Amino acid sequence: MISRTRVVARNPRAASRTWPAETVVYLPDGNTIHSLNETASAVWEFLVHKPTVAQIVHHVAHEFEVDEEQAAQDVKTLLETLVARNLVVLSGGLDDDEARGASATARESDEAERQIPLLYRIKDRAREQNIPMHALLELTNNCNLWCRHCYITHRPSQGELTLDEIKPILDQLADLGTLFLTLTGGEALCRKDFFSIAEYARQREFSFSLFTNGTLITPSVADRLKELALERAEISILGARAATHDAITQVEGSFEKAIGGARLLIERGINVQLKTTWMKLNIDESEEIQGLADSIGATSFRGGNLIIHRRDGSSENSSLAAEESQMRAMQQRRLDRHPGVKLPPDPPPLSEEQKKDIIPCGAGQTSVRIDAYGNVYPCAAIDVLLGDAKTTPLAEIWYGSEELEKIRAIRLIDLPECSACDLWQRCTRCAGLALMETGSLLAASPQACRVARIQHKFLEEKQCELQ
Ligand SMILES: C[S@@+](CC[C@H](N)C(=O)[O-])C[C@H]1O[C@@H](n2cnc3c(N)ncnc32)[C@H](O)[C@@H]1O
Ligand code: SF4
Ligand code: SF4
Repeated sequence: MISRTRVVARNPRAASRTWPAETVVYLPDGNTIHSLNETASAVWEFLVHKPTVAQIVHHVAHEFEVDEEQAAQDVKTLLETLVARNLVVLSGGLDDDEARGASATARESDEAERQIPLLYRIKDRAREQNIPMHALLELTNNCNLWCRHCYITHRPSQGELTLDEIKPILDQLADLGTLFLTLTGGEALCRKDFFSIAEYARQREFSFSLFTNGTLITPSVADRLKELALERAEISILGARAATHDAITQVEGSFEKAIGGARLLIERGINVQLKTTWMKLNIDESEEIQGLADSIGATSFRGGNLIIHRRDGSSENSSLAAEESQMRAMQQRRLDRHPGVKLPPDPPPLSEEQKKDIIPCGAGQTSVRIDAYGNVYPCAAIDVLLGDAKTTPLAEIWYGSEELEKIRAIRLIDLPECSACDLWQRCTRCAGLALMETGSLLAASPQACRVARIQHKFLEEKQCELQ
């Protein structure tokens, strides 16, 4: 039993958000998500005061109108669970042979299998309740690199949101229920006040991730990111060799710095995902980049085939797309890496009923993007302006935008070409890119069609060879 004199506080590295009838808590260490019911939420709220166990019991008895004995029992059970999940820390008091040891087994055994269904349930709940669980905040369009594919075009910092303008936006996101905040740019670390923004975000209990080119991560930057409980850094690595990466970023030395930055974070136990956009300039190094990610201890690696048009409307970066022969060679190398692995069978066709339910794109459902000037959009790629967060309350934009309402209502059945397409279940269509390419959010995306057809043709040929 935990002594009644112990002081209980929230784990300072936890991020949390109270939604109607539950509180969602995320811990970056161990990458776990938790849902607290109404009683637990009330205790969680109370923990900001760093109360003793006795004070919590008294608070629960009063709040839920139960006698102290019943409250003591409930609080004991709850605190044991919270300690086991590492969501709270105990200090002070004298006799303390605590729940920590007793609950260690529970912590290890049930946590992993709880996580994935819980995450799905929380996401469904966010969708049902119209909660922007994720927000992408572009802090600047400025950057120290000049990547040839980059969609960001406007680089001077004039007119960008100031710290004083960002704080109320973060407050409003917290009020709307946003838990996961991604800070990006341009290069967010170019901002001199980056850490003031990140500190404020943590003060408001967001879990924050960072999209970065990695070049500005020094040991002291990495230390501060660790202190602030950075959930994850996604670092763009655009080649396995310095010559390739630097040719794309157009800045010599950027590869060494990016890998150095990634290593500094990994050494501190921060989750790092390396990611790349496949282009004709780098796709031939696909296996080596994956190997590089493994060798430095990155948590994961992700590559994408689609090249979003530039924000000024120009599509000249599309010419960087990989050749068909290069894409096929990448698929072949992947197969060679996993000899003996069976090719996935074609998924069964979707029924018309299923097509009425499938949400083809998550934009605006549980996520929102705010650019460096305060303009609000449904996601990183869909350039449909929803409003200006500097002049209009975010809640008004999120709940009141007619454009957003229309985007949320889109189902697969509304996409004439895609709903009739056999490749849908394997296609990486991006609605934003479709809009840029064709002028319609409902159209097929020529780039996605090309990628899907090339990949499908390759798999079909391999299947024939195996028969
Ligand atoms: C715009 S950057 C901002 C964050 C940071 N500067 C970085 O490079 O990671 C975000 C991500 O978008 C990717 N990206 C940039 N331009 C792109 C494009 N035209 N199409 C697809 N992805 C792109 C970058 O490679 C990077 O992974
Ligand atoms: S580092 Fe990021 S923001 Fe900068 S040019 Fe490259 S992709 Fe664009
Ligand atoms: S984008 Fe093209 S390949 Fe993808 S589902 Fe639509 S029509 Fe099919």
